[in-house]
Amino acid sequence: MSYWGWMFLWLVIGERSKGFNISGCSTKRFLWTYSAKAEDEFVLLCDLPGPKQSHVPERLPCSGIKDLSDVQWYLQPQNEDTLREITKNYSHILLNKTTLRFLTAEMNNAGSYICRPRARSPSDEACCVRMDLAVEPRTDTCVHPVPRTQFLTLGTTDSIYCPSLGCHSDAQSAEVTWYRNGQLVSEKGSNPMQLDEIYDFHEGTYICDHTRSDNTSAWTVRAVVQVRTIVKNTTLQPDILRPDKDTLEAELGKPLTIHCKARFGFEKDFKPVIRWYSKDSDQKLEILTAEGRSVQDTVENKDIECVLHLKEVTRSDLHKTFICFAQNSIGNTTRSIHLKEKKGVLFLYVLLGTVATLVGMLAAGAALFTYRTEIALLCRACRRSKDEALGGGKEFDAFISYAKWGSFESETASPVSEEDLALNLFPEVLENKYGYTLCLLERDVSPGGVYTEDIVRILKKSRRGIFILSPSYVNGPSVFELQAAVNLALQDRTLKLILVQFRSFQEPESLPHLVMKALRALPTVTWRGLRSVPPSSRFWAQIRYHMPVKTRKDSRGTISKLPREHSYWKDSVKQKPLGGAPSPGNEHRSPELPCSSGELTW
Ligand SMILES: *[C@@H]1O[C@H](CO)[C@@H](O)[C@H](O)[C@H]1NC(C)=O
Ligand SMILES: *[C@@H]1O[C@H](CO)[C@@H](O)[C@H](O)[C@H]1NC(C)=O
Ligand SMILES: *[C@@H]1O[C@H](CO)[C@@H](O)[C@H](O)[C@H]1NC(C)=O
Ligand SMILES: *[C@@H]1O[C@H](CO)[C@@H](O)[C@H](O)[C@H]1NC(C)=O
Ligand SMILES: *[C@@H]1O[C@H](CO)[C@@H](O)[C@H](O)[C@H]1NC(C)=O
Ligand SMILES: *[C@@H]1O[C@H](CO)[C@@H](O)[C@H](O)[C@H]1NC(C)=O
Repeated sequence: MSYWGWMFLWLVIGERSKGFNISGCSTKRFLWTYSAKAEDEFVLLCDLPGPKQSHVPERLPCSGIKDLSDVQWYLQPQNEDTLREITKNYSHILLNKTTLRFLTAEMNNAGSYICRPRARSPSDEACCVRMDLAVEPRTDTCVHPVPRTQFLTLGTTDSIYCPSLGCHSDAQSAEVTWYRNGQLVSEKGSNPMQLDEIYDFHEGTYICDHTRSDNTSAWTVRAVVQVRTIVKNTTLQPDILRPDKDTLEAELGKPLTIHCKARFGFEKDFKPVIRWYSKDSDQKLEILTAEGRSVQDTVENKDIECVLHLKEVTRSDLHKTFICFAQNSIGNTTRSIHLKEKKGVLFLYVLLGTVATLVGMLAAGAALFTYRTEIALLCRACRRSKDEALGGGKEFDAFISYAKWGSFESETASPVSEEDLALNLFPEVLENKYGYTLCLLERDVSPGGVYTEDIVRILKKSRRGIFILSPSYVNGPSVFELQAAVNLALQDRTLKLILVQFRSFQEPESLPHLVMKALRALPTVTWRGLRSVPPSSRFWAQIRYHMPVKTRKDSRGTISKLPREHSYWKDSVKQKPLGGAPSPGNEHRSPELPCSSGELTW
């Protein structure tokens, strides 16, 4: 809002409050006779005649106004015409809705206090109360003046005395109107006000009014009494709730906070003492500066906490006794606590270090496990001298066994048939690329011999048996080759068996027990279809891992140098429709292949 806007508003407000004709308000006259000795306070209530009194037949000035709880207060100081609105709390006047509370007795509190509802219509102009307040000091001559704060013991019968009626005596007979927290309690009541049994709700700010008249006018003499409900004085010394242990872990050089919390029972003259002491080995006591605060305050109990802050725990603190001391009028209670050096942090570092090392080792282990094949091959390449192929009296590096008589049923499902793998890919990769000597029954053994005898003979001359397993293999007659190999391998340690899981299968119940065991125990390499075709694939790396140590250099050389028109895995797998099995043993047949070498007679 602009400056001119504010000016306009100010003018309007000023005009309205100036034009407020207070002569129509109902008027009451109050007298505050304060005692200079006592801490006196005073309360004005905006007691508008409201709808609650609507049973009165004549129309009251405020009967049309619903909300009488939101009022405006005005002050017209003595000997002044101007009317000032009281909009905020002042240092000694507190404004709380329909109540004005004066905290200190001063002569200049005298004046006219006007209140009227904030929401009103022009016809409600007369709905206002004007309270003329006169202030006069009183000289108490009483030996026992009536206290401004009175304590009532819960559960007992007691009385509240009105301070403005002189001395503390029961011989007061004036009619007194009593209010509690701004609400009327008794009109034309007595002084003192008798209470049969004291309850919690009797606590509050009481007002007692009585009328004093002289020849010209009547005054309402008002006094304010604070009433507190209490319980009986405690008969116990304080109870220390914290610390609840007698040792506390502390780190050297670090700040430390120790709490002492004590529960004090009710005492009327409550003078609690709570503090921290320290006692060194010479039994010398020292009072420590600590910070106290009330943490819980009920009628019966007061919990007070005393917090000790050590800037830095020193070694000498470890030899001290820290004592929390709490005292009331009944007696005292102490609680001692020792500091213990905390080893936790070092332990934590050690623990973290161990965990980190373990994690690192696990990660390294996982990496080793993942690349174990590659690593092993690398190592083998370094140790060429240990070439198994040169010794042992064996002619073949590996005998390849696959399903020869049953592959028709599942062949179409995969782009590379098990026959392709055995008769083309294995020679292509292991013989041509890596220089191994393979033995393939179809290719290398001339027909006519006794099958079972041929198999045993070949196996005896082979360092490895590679078995291409598929449903047709384990269900077909070729499984005999595996069975024979397992039996031989049990006697001949130089014969090792490698399983190739070409296609997953259910183990038929007819499988010999030994074969079943072997299926679980023998190293297995899984064929992953076209992904496994390139010689650089993981499949071939794993196969080579299980193969005898051999490098291209060490091979007899002739095989790998055989002229090839095309590479099988490039052309036949990718370009040739793969439905039909390539006819075994024709284009790869070579007179120099070991199975047909002179060392074996068929
Ligand atoms: C205030 O109102 C009274 C009647 O209630 C009237 O006599 C008096 O003239 C008014 N004063 C002013 C300044 O309007
Ligand atoms: C004055 O202070 C009392 C608390 O002391 C508060 O309840 C009241 O709302 C305040 N009034 C104004 C007008 O700020
Ligand atoms: C203000 O008045 C309300 C009731 O209207 C009362 O509950 C509250 O305690 C009063 N506040 C003060 C500071 O007197
Ligand atoms: C009150 O008036 C009576 C006569 O009616 C007179 O005797 C007395 O002195 C007056 N008192 C005061 C305090 O003015
Ligand atoms: C409580 O003790 C105070 C003194 O500390 C005493 O004046 C008061 O009468 C006692 N109250 C009760 C109920 O015993
Ligand atoms: C604490 O109480 C014991 C008796 O229980 C008393 O001997 C001692 O002097 C008290 N200590 C203090 C500091 O008042």
